[in-house]
Amino acid sequence: MVRKKGSLILCGAFLFVAWNALLLLYLWGRPPIGRLGEGQVNLAGEVIRLAEEVEVQLETQKKLLKQIESHRAVWVRQKDKPVHTVAPHSNPDVIIPILVIACDRVTVKRSLDRLIQYRPSPQLYPIIVSQDCGHAETARVIASYGDQVSHISQPDLSDIRVRPEHRKFQGYYKIARHYRWALNQVFNTFSHTTVVIVEDDLEVAPDFFEYFRALYPILRSDPTLWCVSAWNDNGRDALVDSSKAELLYRTDFFPGLGWMLLKEMWDELEPKWPLAFWDDWMRQPEQRRDRSCIRPEISRTITFGRKGVSLGQFFDQYLRYIKLNTQFVPFTKQNLSYLLKEKYDEKFIKEVYSAPLVKIEELQQGGKGRGIVHFQHTSLFG
Ligand SMILES: *[C@@H]1O[C@H](CO)[C@@H](O)[C@H](O)[C@H]1NC(C)=O
Repeated sequence: MVRKKGSLILCGAFLFVAWNALLLLYLWGRPPIGRLGEGQVNLAGEVIRLAEEVEVQLETQKKLLKQIESHRAVWVRQKDKPVHTVAPHSNPDVIIPILVIACDRVTVKRSLDRLIQYRPSPQLYPIIVSQDCGHAETARVIASYGDQVSHISQPDLSDIRVRPEHRKFQGYYKIARHYRWALNQVFNTFSHTTVVIVEDDLEVAPDFFEYFRALYPILRSDPTLWCVSAWNDNGRDALVDSSKAELLYRTDFFPGLGWMLLKEMWDELEPKWPLAFWDDWMRQPEQRRDRSCIRPEISRTITFGRKGVSLGQFFDQYLRYIKLNTQFVPFTKQNLSYLLKEKYDEKFIKEVYSAPLVKIEELQQGGKGRGIVHFQHTSLFG
């Protein structure tokens, strides 16, 4: 597009120069004005005629210039159009790949369909499906997307030797191995600088891509953040305010389930990546190191999976009630700097301590309505 506009300008400029060259040749080729022997009236008439001609020429030139100008305006608009609000350290065109972790669930189709449906640009959001487990039917489903996704396969399908009491956790070991391999592919083979990780049982919201693009510069500029997650662990339908789709928070608990990390963070984690239970490992203080994640009030992912290593029971009792956001929020047009630690903490602390103090029993009885309240506890369950 830009190249086409550029050639239009060149074309216009060429016409302009050619027109002037022709005019010059024409004027040079004319018989000289005011030849000897001709009267004053003739000379005056000639000058007027010439002036009129010049006027016509100027009018034509003006039109040409205006045309060039209008092309240039279109071109400049195209080029300089602020696609995203300018935030510190933002690179509006950073490529944000989506890494889909797949194994043996053909329902990965549901994940991929939504991702492709909502993806604003295949160039800015390449989808990399990493498959473990060597499941042929799942591989066929992934292959059916053709060049809409990149399909890579974890090569080491061998069993992992674990201590006897962990034999039933073999699946968790394989997942950790797969994550390590896939993230190394994204950062070292594909050379991306960031990634959003989703699993084959996650369905995304319409503004999933918008959300991560808007938060990329925040993640990049705040060293007290280590991830952006699309998931609210407490995002059950009955607990969230559906009218506040734009609401975002910082959280000290690593939510996972559709999350973004930077290459620098992977470089830190990779050398000590655990053999199993990687998400619980992420939540340990040695890894988290007091850093937070951004999370939305209303989740931008939900999980529809039950099969697999995760607990089906947990899904039935809890995960299935998480609300998936449906309203598109133009996050990239918003000023999200309130999420930076200093600003966020100041406001958050004020808000918490100005809210009425209640006892946990009052909350459980629902006696205080649904406004903001605060309660104090001395232990996690106290
Ligand atoms: C963005 O919001 C912050 C407050 O959180 C304010 O200080 C800053 O000036 C705002 N920036 C713009 C460009 O509006």
